[in-house]
Amino acid sequence: MTVSTAGPAAGRDAATVQGEAGIENAQIGDFTAHMVTLRWTEEDGWSGPRLTGHRDLSLSPATAVLHYGQSVIEGLKAHRQPDGSFAVFRPDAHARRFRESARRLSMAELPEELFTEALEVLVAAEQESLPDRPGYSLYLRPFMFASETNLVPRPARAYTVVVISFLIGSYFGEDTESLAAWVCRDFPRAFPGGTGSAKTPGNYAPTMPAQQAAARAGCHQVVWLDAVERRWVEEMGSANLFFVRGHGSEQVVVTPPLTGSFLPGVTRDSVVAVARELGYEVREEPVDVADWRTGCEAGLITETFGCGTAAVVTPIGRVRDGDTEWRVGEGGPGPVARAVKERLLSHHHGLVPDVHGWRHQVGRG
Ligand SMILES: Cc1ncc(COP(=O)(O)O)c(C=O)c1O
Repeated sequence: MTVSTAGPAAGRDAATVQGEAGIENAQIGDFTAHMVTLRWTEEDGWSGPRLTGHRDLSLSPATAVLHYGQSVIEGLKAHRQPDGSFAVFRPDAHARRFRESARRLSMAELPEELFTEALEVLVAAEQESLPDRPGYSLYLRPFMFASETNLVPRPARAYTVVVISFLIGSYFGEDTESLAAWVCRDFPRAFPGGTGSAKTPGNYAPTMPAQQAAARAGCHQVVWLDAVERRWVEEMGSANLFFVRGHGSEQVVVTPPLTGSFLPGVTRDSVVAVARELGYEVREEPVDVADWRTGCEAGLITETFGCGTAAVVTPIGRVRDGDTEWRVGEGGPGPVARAVKERLLSHHHGLVPDVHGWRHQVGRG
């Protein structure tokens, strides 16, 4: 099973730059041919975006990011529209989070218009070079790092932003697979007052031993609990979590409230809106891991699913917590997850009116 909640997609490492293998042979996971760069210095402010081919960076070994970790990332997608153009999904929300993440690390804040302009430049360049096949979307990865050459541990005085992209499946019309989740009891991912709500690489490296432990336990993804009580469910891998309580007209869709110690997912926000569009009641409520188990066992919790830019909507079929294991619903994708996913993909691909102003059109159209 290749259920992936983080890119590059489909269990394949993105290693090839599209173009090396020829456009017609481009595959999911291939990096696209271009990248965009912006720079900031204390003296001159922002310059760029500058479009070049996707290429290696050349860095001094004394580049500040390599020593003190001032770095932030984003992840968003551009989807083909019925007229063949691309629309970037919610660039404004990602631009805002990029700024907020940068602020948390005392880095320069990229103005939201420049963030969006950089994406436009890149997507417009790729639009010309990609095969016009409906199965592809573009995963866009903006990142910023402290590029000053300096070993003094203070906020850097120069930053570089780069945006690269790779091909990702559009998942439209594909059936959803469910995954097995492993509850991490050994260590928390984030803590109150920490950096859990910022998208910074330093939040990801320490989670890798837990990912390996989950794999050893036969599970695909790690579920994180709060750091203080080790009781409240926060998020999973690179996804936020939703729970479906009850049946029929009593059904309620629940997601943990934002506490500052996990990522405020743009997809989380979209799923709340989409579930409401579909007529579901949505509540933000803390979810106790013990209640998750007993709720599933008693048939009170009928579905749990993760959601994120890469994951889209990924149902959880089975949960492992130490020696205990439980099944969610029937163990496969449930009707709410299926309906939410289909509706969200329709928003991505321009198949429903853009009532929320989520699609930022690039190129034709
Ligand atoms: C830790 C974490 N949580 C949640 C998410 C989902 O966020 P979004 O929906 O903005 O992709 C991501 C992915 O970016 C993530 O890395």
